[in-house]
Amino acid sequence: MPVSDAVVLPGGAGVARRRIGAARSPSPSTLSRLDLSRAAGEVQSCAGLALFYATRDGQARLVAERIAARLAETGLGVTPHDLAAAFPVPAACAAAALIVVVAAVRYGRHLPEAERFLAAYRVLPRLPPLVFVSVNLTARKPGKDTVEGNRYLRKTLTRHRLEPALAAAVAGRLDYPRYGWFDRQMIRLIMKLTGGPTDPQTRVEFTDWAAVDVIGARIAALHAPVPGQGVI
Ligand SMILES: Cc1cc2nc3c(=O)[nH]c(=O)nc-3n(C[C@H](O)[C@H](O)[C@H](O)COP(=O)(O)O)c2cc1C
Repeated sequence: MPVSDAVVLPGGAGVARRRIGAARSPSPSTLSRLDLSRAAGEVQSCAGLALFYATRDGQARLVAERIAARLAETGLGVTPHDLAAAFPVPAACAAAALIVVVAAVRYGRHLPEAERFLAAYRVLPRLPPLVFVSVNLTARKPGKDTVEGNRYLRKTLTRHRLEPALAAAVAGRLDYPRYGWFDRQMIRLIMKLTGGPTDPQTRVEFTDWAAVDVIGARIAALHAPVPGQGVI
């Protein structure tokens, strides 16, 4: 079945559904510019379901691992890969059945390795269906876990002109003692403006693991859809 006809899933809070857009052929020069596989470490194969994450403080990795655990329960064995440690060979990713990216936000943008991956993904000769999960603190607020409600998610998808099969934002972790002085003051300021905790001793995990489990279940369904509910 062509990827442009992908995905029919029941809707639900916090998870947006989109149809996969038609693939565009990149120019050879664009491909070579985006061949980031020369960076230290490579993921040579993206066969089957590929799961990547971009993290600094570890929460996006925990989210990716939780998704992997849910997938394992459905018989889908997948190892999460850190995009900062081993960047996938873009051409190999074109063969993936489904690509999942879990990326943390820093100062209004997803981490650079996630942005690079999305740019490389966008010009693949064939676009496998994409699931994008943003991890940020804004998502702790009601209604801020969807594409419509979360501007980091919305802006990133717009900037890269992506139409993921599934996109959602998940609340991350606030850990003031872990941050350097500047970051701590900046995050405290943001928290003050948005009604969050400002005590510099605060360590709190806002992640809604039940919502992550729902995302994991939806990814499993995307990969092995229920008859009559659509396929990839
Ligand atoms: C320096 C810094 C900047 C951040 N900037 C934002 C931001 O602009 N918006 C937001 O919602 N969360 C922001 N966060 C919160 C992170 O997205 C959140 O802590 C997340 O759990 C980090 O993921 P990681 O542990 O995988 O790195 C920031 C956190 C830090 C430390």
